[in-house]
Formats: sequence, structure tokens, C-alpha cells
Amino acid sequence: MLVKIKSLTKRFGAATAVDRATILVDRPQMIGIIGRSGAGKSTLLRMINRLTDATSGELSVDGVDVLALRGKALRLWRRDCAMIFQQFNLVPRLDVVTNVMLGRVSDHGALRSMFNIFPDEDIHDAVRTLERLGIAEHALKRAEALSGGQQQRVAIARALMQRPRMLLADEPIASLDPMNAQAVMGALRKIHDEDGLTVMCNLHTLDTARRYCDRVIGMRDGRIVFDGPASALTETAAREIYGAGADFSESATSTSLSALAARTGGPSAAAPARVRA
Ligand SMILES: Nc1ncnc2c1ncn2[C@@H]1O[C@H](COP(=O)(O)OP(=O)(O)OP(=O)(O)O)[C@@H](O)[C@H]1O
Ligand SMILES: [Mg+2]
Repeated sequence: MLVKIKSLTKRFGAATAVDRATILVDRPQMIGIIGRSGAGKSTLLRMINRLTDATSGELSVDGVDVLALRGKALRLWRRDCAMIFQQFNLVPRLDVVTNVMLGRVSDHGALRSMFNIFPDEDIHDAVRTLERLGIAEHALKRAEALSGGQQQRVAIARALMQRPRMLLADEPIASLDPMNAQAVMGALRKIHDEDGLTVMCNLHTLDTARRYCDRVIGMRDGRIVFDGPASALTETAAREIYGAGADFSESATSTSLSALAARTGGPSAAAPARVRA
């Protein structure tokens, strides 16, 4: 897949939320987007799946001009780039497997889904996907009975049911404790590795981007100020992204995955870093 984002810009009145962003993805990658609050991370993802219309610039995927899509083609595009949110957006009182099958709604129409009429194939796929993500044992529980990390994996399973070509995640672990955050990031990484999907993931913490992503994009005031492999994300680069005055330290803080590893004697205790604007 070839994703070509060129000079993509979003203005809200006089304010520029995303300022001439240019990103080229020429093979499936796991991409982390970092930057302080208000940097434009969510707006960038929302422009990609057309939840927000760009003010100017270009976005094409495999040669298709995404910004020009209308009607059915636009609906298909939204299915092609499934989005995951911080708040999971599950139906709390519905059981897990039904929540997952709702990922197929656009295939069958809302009415059939409303009456929980799903083809056997969907049921099998849903259970298989839950198995992949290590939560099949919860298939028949109500979504609201699951932990945050389990619910987010249900949301990932639902997204996969769309058979997407790309996965967009807007702060998928921002409201999770370290253990659950790890499970969710591990799930995204597994999907990238096994299915060859491009994953673009907004993240608040540096160490998470370093640990799980091949490529990191740093945004500041709407502009992309860093784009490179996680290994190039030095402290200097981080200061450029977060600003010299940013409260950040290479030694861990409470929500850092590495801090957890340190407490539990895990492998990645060595190089924790966390930045929060
Ligand atoms: N619908 C909107 N109307 C007006 N301004 C907006 C709107 N959405 C976003 N903005 C502004 O655009 C800028 C970028 O916002 P965005 O939500 O993309 O940042 P972000 O990097 O996702 O921040 P956070 O880490 O807090 O989620 C901010 O200044 C924000 O106030
Ligand atoms: Mg955001």
C-alpha cells in the first residue's frame, strides 16, 4: 500500500491545527504519532479517514484520491481505514461477540444487525479474531463487564471485522493502566506483524512509541518536526517535539510501561521515558 500525504492542512478559523503535513508510507509500517496536547495528532488521523475535511493538500492511497471520495466510495474508504478511539465506543450492554460482529454492519445493513442476525461466517470470524487477541473466553460477557484493556481489544477485533487496509488509533491506551496498555499495544503490533496492516497510532508517551513503533512522527503546533525510526528518537529530538520546557525525563514515571517492567523485573526496565505536555 502506498499512502501519500502531501501538504495536508486543516484550519479552524484563524487557527491551523495541521500545517502542511507530508507523510509517505511505501510499505506496511507501524507508525506512532507523538506530540503535546493540541499538536494536531487527532486532526491528522481524522483527516485521513475523512471524519474531518482537509482545508487543503493531498491524500492518496494506492493512487486513489481520498479527499475526492463521496457517497458510497467514501463509506467504503471509512471501512478500509478502521479507527480505534481512547473511549473504545463499544455498546456496553451487548455481549462481546455481538459488539465485534457490528464491525460487519456496513456489509449487511443496520436492520439485520439490529436483530442480531449474523451469518455463521461472521460468528466464526468474530470468535477467531477474539482468540487472536487473547480474549475469546469473554465472548459471551457484556462488554461493560470487561476491563479497559480487554474492551479496547474488543474494539480492535471489531475494527478487524471491517477487513481494513489500514488501522488508525487515536490514543488507544491513554485511559489504561500499564498492564492493559501493554496488552493493547501488543495486540496492535501483532496485527501489524501478522496481517501486514499499516497502523497509525497517536500516543502520549515516548517510551511506548519507541517500544512498539518502527517509525515515529513528531508533531508540534500542527507541523511535523520529526519523522524517522524509533531509534533516531533521541532526547534532543524529543525536546524538539515537546519543546525545551516540556516536563520530561528519561527516568520513568507512574504510567510508563517500563516503570512497570522495572517493578516486576521485566526486560525493558533500562530506558524508560515519558512525556506529557
Ligand atoms: N473542531 C474543532 N474546532 C476548532 N478547533 C479545533 C477543533 N478540533 C481541534 N481543534 C484545534 O486544533 C488543534 C489541534 O487539535 P488536536 O485535537 O488535533 O490535537 P491533539 O494533538 O490530538 O491533542 P491531544 O493530545 O490533546 O488529543 C488544537 O489547537 C485544537 O484546539
Ligand atoms: Mg488528540
